[in-house]
Amino acid sequence: MITKPRGTEDVLPEESKLWQYIESTARCVCERFGYKEIRTPVFENTELFQRGVGDTTDVVQKEMYTFEDKGGRSLTLKPEGTATLVRSYIENSLYANPQPTKLSYIIPCFRYEKPQSGRLREFHQFGIECFGASSPATDAEVISLAYMFLKELKLTGIELNINSIGCPVCKKEYNEKLRSYFEKYKGELCPTCLERLEKNPMRIIDCKSDICSKIAKDAPKMIDYLCDECHNHFESVKERLTNMGISYTVNPDIVRGLDYYTKTVFEFVSDALGAQSTVCGGGRYSGLVEELGGKPADGIGFAAGLERLILVIKKQQEVSSVTEASPDIFIATMGDKAESFAQKLIFDLRNAGIHAEQDLCGRSLKAQMKYADKLSAKFSIVVGENELSENSANLKNMKDGEIIATALDVETLKSHLQEGK
Ligand code: HAM
Repeated sequence: MITKPRGTEDVLPEESKLWQYIESTARCVCERFGYKEIRTPVFENTELFQRGVGDTTDVVQKEMYTFEDKGGRSLTLKPEGTATLVRSYIENSLYANPQPTKLSYIIPCFRYEKPQSGRLREFHQFGIECFGASSPATDAEVISLAYMFLKELKLTGIELNINSIGCPVCKKEYNEKLRSYFEKYKGELCPTCLERLEKNPMRIIDCKSDICSKIAKDAPKMIDYLCDECHNHFESVKERLTNMGISYTVNPDIVRGLDYYTKTVFEFVSDALGAQSTVCGGGRYSGLVEELGGKPADGIGFAAGLERLILVIKKQQEVSSVTEASPDIFIATMGDKAESFAQKLIFDLRNAGIHAEQDLCGRSLKAQMKYADKLSAKFSIVVGENELSENSANLKNMKDGEIIATALDVETLKSHLQEGK
């Protein structure tokens, strides 16, 4: 038997209801905040991520699904959405519209990671990006959108952690401090981090190896080296969050795993998950648009992992309360004539917006009623020769067993079903 590739998942019908619930909540919240959906290719030129995400990150160094197409071009399945959106923002001249440009997306992402609960090789993100606005109000708006999204999913035990990782000016001084700190541990760092020590010492803080993360614990913190501009920006973001009633913890250890961030970074973590507890992460990126060939423009955004959100929902909520989609009515039949009449009636009921079901597998009447129970149908009727000739049948409320007579036409049935809701 051929099985699915390691680190991928099938979403079966009962679970896809949960996906639709999360996706429609995301779309609904985005609409209220004025974020419009953008759709972009699943693969991009590899260079986009090398330059965009940063070639000292784990994502670029170890995790990309890169391949050569038949024309010899190096392409990569998107490991994330931000670099792609920046490319699209520049390529489609979205900067020419009144700014900011507020975009949202729901995309599959691909990272060659070691699969475990909440960590897949193909996973999905809901994200937003806001281009062309550098004010602290933008940071607060973006964070508040993520907050409202998670709140509307009725998740509990979610905490917001924020930090500032400064701008290129203050990062320079900090990087020197960091480099001299890590130099002392040169003999213990992993080979990847030894390389990072030269190129980008801040990346060492994000290393997953036990030894490196132990060493990184006591490293100097960026937040202690912010320049006045970055410090004031961060203070204003915090003040605005407090104003909106959004609680947060300042966590100086958040550096994020991608290279493009400047100033505000943030993560929402859930106490319902184990090691992979970050359900949503994001931050500001001031230099990325320019780095990828555009005129300087600030960006800020976040992405939430849909599979992780689903894990949290499954732990905290009765999934059926979120996904229940039982038929309004099940029409059981006796004989061919009744069955063909029922199919037309069901078609007309569906046309009128009612979820109606019938048996398609030739079950006996008893088995049809059992099946109606399994589907959790709210009402049922049985149609046979008598019902056909009298154009009338008994409508049974499957919950309390109450029975009323009904005519077999769409309008009458519809009004009974609405009354019974
Ligand atoms: P990220 O932190 O790499 O950021 O990913 C965002 C979220 O995607 C994570 O918090 C997690 O929920 C989910 N995620 C990441 N990797 C996996 C995986 N292997 N399996 C399952 N879920 C995963 C970004 O991707 C940035 N582009 C976010 C951003 C947007 N920053 C600014 N704008």
